Amino acid sequence: MSKPILEVKNLRKNFDSFVAIDNISFSLEEGEILGFLGPNGAGKSTTIYCILGLIDPEVGEINIFGKSIKKDRSEIFKKVNYASAEFNLPWNLSLWESLLVYSRLYELSDAKIRISELLEIFEMTHLKNTPIRDLSLGLRARGNLCKALLNRPKLLLLDEPMASMDPDVVDKGINLLRQIQKEDKISILYTSHNMWEIEEVASNVIFINHGQIVASGTPLELTQKVLKLESGEPNLRDVFIHLSRAKNESK
Ligand SMILES: Nc1ncnc2c1ncn2[C@@H]1O[C@H](COP(=O)(O)OP(=O)(O)O)[C@@H](O)[C@H]1O
Ligand SMILES: [Mg+2]
Repeated sequence: MSKPILEVKNLRKNFDSFVAIDNISFSLEEGEILGFLGPNGAGKSTTIYCILGLIDPEVGEINIFGKSIKKDRSEIFKKVNYASAEFNLPWNLSLWESLLVYSRLYELSDAKIRISELLEIFEMTHLKNTPIRDLSLGLRARGNLCKALLNRPKLLLLDEPMASMDPDVVDKGINLLRQIQKEDKISILYTSHNMWEIEEVASNVIFINHGQIVASGTPLELTQKVLKLESGEPNLRDVFIHLSRAKNESK
């Protein structure tokens, strides 16, 4: 079997005496979209920042493309990217100029072709001269996805990429993302506290709460396991409510 694209082993992160990540392990296979679901404060972003190497965990090992992020950083991160609704492209630059800034950072040799291609896929060509500040939340999220795909990543870390957006905007964003994910076989760790979004996008789901993995599986397996059902439709909403309450009551 081929090596996973991303391996997280026994990750632990404290902020002073507070344990934000408590011994988390999981892996992401090639071409997989893994949903990373959990309530606010569960530890999703902290996990992503550890994977990006932005914060140092106390304990744990993170491998990307079979290599340690501690040793082969610059090579690994040429093929990794990140997007979040909290991230902003340069505010006063046009969409085109913003993407050009990142293309230079990623040292793309075909920047203009790549930007045009992505603007086309994300249906934003007509907006290329619009300043980022004048784009709606949903369009900014799509611009962020264009930025995140510039370097043709093999691993994409999406931290609530569509947070606080209307369902129709999320739906559009997800469909466009899925199209390019399939074509380019990108592996995605997709973080959200929106069950519906994860149900739409992810083949496998990890549910975390208070820094621990409390359940994992396909959306349907999770539904059956957690809600103790024999059959039925995936229902991550009820799984979410069940797991969040169970954990809080035991505290
Ligand atoms: N820099 C920090 N200093 C102290 N506590 C932090 C810091 N970053 C995150 N936390 C805490 O760690 C927990 C997990 O946060 P986070 O990973 O942002 O959760 P999520 O992304 O799932 O909403 C929260 O209780 C948060 O307050
Ligand atoms: Mg977060």
